[in-house]
Amino acid sequence: MAKMAASLVESGEDAFRKIFKFYRRRNPPPDFSDVIDFSKGAASDKVVPAKLDPAAVSDAEAARAGLQPVRDWRAFSLQGYPGFIFISNPFLLGSQPFWVRQCLKTYPQKPNVCNLDMHMSPSETEDIWGKSIHGLSCPLSGKRQPKTLLEKLRWVTLGYHYNWDTKTYSANHYTPFPADLHQLSVQITAACGFPGFNAEAGILNYYRSDSSLGIHVDESELDHSRPLLSLSFGQSAIFLLGGTHRQDPPTALYMHSGDVMLMSGQSRLLYHAVPRIVPAPQGHTSLEMEGCSLASSLQDNSVVEQISEQDWAVCSKYIQSSRVNVTVRQVLGPGQSFPETASYHQRTDAGQTDGYHDRPADRKMKRSRSCDSVDNDET
Ligand code: OGA
Ligand code: MN
Repeated sequence: MAKMAASLVESGEDAFRKIFKFYRRRNPPPDFSDVIDFSKGAASDKVVPAKLDPAAVSDAEAARAGLQPVRDWRAFSLQGYPGFIFISNPFLLGSQPFWVRQCLKTYPQKPNVCNLDMHMSPSETEDIWGKSIHGLSCPLSGKRQPKTLLEKLRWVTLGYHYNWDTKTYSANHYTPFPADLHQLSVQITAACGFPGFNAEAGILNYYRSDSSLGIHVDESELDHSRPLLSLSFGQSAIFLLGGTHRQDPPTALYMHSGDVMLMSGQSRLLYHAVPRIVPAPQGHTSLEMEGCSLASSLQDNSVVEQISEQDWAVCSKYIQSSRVNVTVRQVLGPGQSFPETASYHQRTDAGQTDGYHDRPADRKMKRSRSCDSVDNDET
């Protein structure tokens, strides 16, 4: 029988790296039986129902952002991780397609910044969606076609644009944060007990079925008392939530389409990673049917709108093999501003620098140089 992740770890070693590699392994595939699945409720003894604040968000405000009434959300916390909240798909039936379209069609547009801007001219990256919709390859068609820009998209930044090299945000690299995503973030964080959240920076990660995201801590934001919000769409992922040290063995959990995660309090600065994308389980693929069925739940002045059949045809094809994750961050505390010098830069663990350099974007670049090596470096 395959070894379970927890039995691998010896004290004192980089347990996170070991378990990351365990879940990333292709051959033979790992045993997934330790992975917590919140869609099955409090199935593990580590999972406890979490109390939300339904009074903080009216049903109408929730519906305007495409969310169910807060009292119907299935929210959980994890023993040993205070401040971590997992909400199992709180979206109204038919509203995820809108958010998927925003992630694929709207947010990659200028003035937002994406990985393609690093080596292409502004005119070449101007209309990623328009230049991709005809060529988007069908995962089932065996033919090799050149990748579309949408298939080459690895990350987009919003608001205060994260600088991957300096690992900082700065006052002079800011464009307006999307109002609809701000609305969604404000409702979710308020329901979780964080009124007055200000969505100032966003990072979208686009994962193919063989992508992963390296072990890191999100510490570049200046106010760590504000929560970090994470939204997932499309294929599922294994998410690893660790401790404050790499020696702490992480807990593995599934993130399915529509799932929402909040890292706050003591869990705000924990190591985490995405070692593997996994197919959405049967039933979750009902997202495929959601398409143009944004029922009668559409409110007046809703930020969520019915998307066209053509847009949904492209989005649903894309998410058949891909996952999109959106993290929303408040960078500055109330009344806070950026320090004068550009040298504001801190790491809690200077020896561990893999962090963002292992994002899907960079891994993709490594892969194009040495095609199959990424998953084969088991030691
Ligand atoms: C991040 C992150 C997790 C995910 O972007 O910082 O941790 O689920 N993303 O993609
Ligand atoms: Mn992160």
